[in-house]
Amino acid sequence: MLVLGIESTCDETGVALLEDGHRLLANCVVSQVPLHERFGGVVPELASRAHVEVITRMLERAFREAGLPPPGPEAPVDAIAVANRPGLIGSLLVGVTAAKSLALAWDRPLIGVDHVHAHIYSAAMRSKPPFSPPPSESEVFPAVSFVVSGGHTALYQSESWTQHRLIGSTQDDAVGEAFDKAAAILGLGYPGGPVISKAALAGAPGTVSFPRTLLEPDSLDFSFSGIKTAVLYHARGQDSGRDTPLRPGVRAEDVALAFEEAVVDVLIEKLRRAVLRTAARTAIVAGGVAANRRLRERLGRFEEVCGVRVRIPDLALCTDNAAMIAGLGTRLWELGATAGLELDAVAMTSR
Ligand code: KG4
Ligand code: ZN
Repeated sequence: MLVLGIESTCDETGVALLEDGHRLLANCVVSQVPLHERFGGVVPELASRAHVEVITRMLERAFREAGLPPPGPEAPVDAIAVANRPGLIGSLLVGVTAAKSLALAWDRPLIGVDHVHAHIYSAAMRSKPPFSPPPSESEVFPAVSFVVSGGHTALYQSESWTQHRLIGSTQDDAVGEAFDKAAAILGLGYPGGPVISKAALAGAPGTVSFPRTLLEPDSLDFSFSGIKTAVLYHARGQDSGRDTPLRPGVRAEDVALAFEEAVVDVLIEKLRRAVLRTAARTAIVAGGVAANRRLRERLGRFEEVCGVRVRIPDLALCTDNAAMIAGLGTRLWELGATAGLELDAVAMTSR
C-alpha cells in the first residue's frame, strides 16, 4: 500500500511517498523562506506562484528518492492524499489541483487531509529508519493534542487520530507568529523560531522578564500580542518603530532568552490545564514550534510532573511536510474516507 502525499498549505511545497502507513520512502520539502525573508512573513501571492513553479519537480524528486521510475499512470501508487484545509487559499489550490489531476489521470482514489490534524498525526510517525507501525489508538487515546505552529496555537481533546475537538485557541497571534514578530523586532531574521532559540543560548538569565499571559484561571485560550508589545517597548522604547535602534544596554540575546522562557512557560501551563481537565493519558505536541529546544526539554519533564505520556514528532516532522499528509491520508483511506474530484480547498480551520 503506497500513498502519495502532497502539502502546499502555506510556504512549503512537500511531496512524500509512504508505504504501508509507516515506511517513508521519500519526504521532499522545499521551503520558500528566501522568498519571504525580506518581508518578515509569508506573502500569499508569491507563495502560490512559487508552489506552481516547483510542484512538478518535487513530484519527480520524490519518485527518484523512493527509487521508483518517473511518475506516470503505471506508478505503484495506490492513493493520493492532499492537504486541502486550512491554509492560504492560493497555496492550497496548487496542491489540491495537482492531486486531483493525478487522481483523474492515473485513476486513483483521492483523500482530503486536514493539515492541523496531520500535524497531530506526525507524532505517530518516524522520519527515518528504523520505521515502525503507528502505535495502536487504544495505547495513545484519550489525548490532549497541542498544535503549535506559525498559523495555529490550538488545544484539542482527541479520541483518535481522526477525532479532535477544539478546547482552546489563540485570541490573536499564533505562537510561531509571535516568535517571528519578536525576531523581527530584535533584528534577528526570519523565520523567528530557530533564530530566537539560537540567540537565547547566548542570553544572560534574569536580565529582563516578560509577562506570562494566562487569561482567566481556567482558560485554555492564548494571547501573544501583549508579549510582542512588551518586547518592542523593552528593546526599542515606547513610541518606537521597528527602525528605531535597540535601546542602549539592551542585548537581543537577553531579550530572546526572556521571550522564549515566557512563551514556553505559557505553553506548558496551558497544556497542564488541558491534561488535568480532560483526564488524558497522552499529551501530543506538534507543529513548527514543537521543534523548539526549550519546549522539548520542558516536555521531557512534563511526563513526570503530570503523569501523562508525551509524544512529540521527530524534528524533521515538526515543520510543514508531506509525510504527515500521507500518514493521516493512509489512516483516512483505511477508514474509507476518500473524496471525489469535487474536493475543495478550504482556507478556514475546521472546528
Ligand atoms: O508548522 P509550521 O512549519 O507551519 C505552520 O503550519 O504554520 O511552523 C512554522 C513556525 C514558524 O513560525 C517558525 O518560527 C516556528 O514554526 N518554528 C519554531 C522553531 N522552528 C520553527 N519556533 C520556535 N522554535 C523553533 N526551533
Ligand atoms: Zn503547519
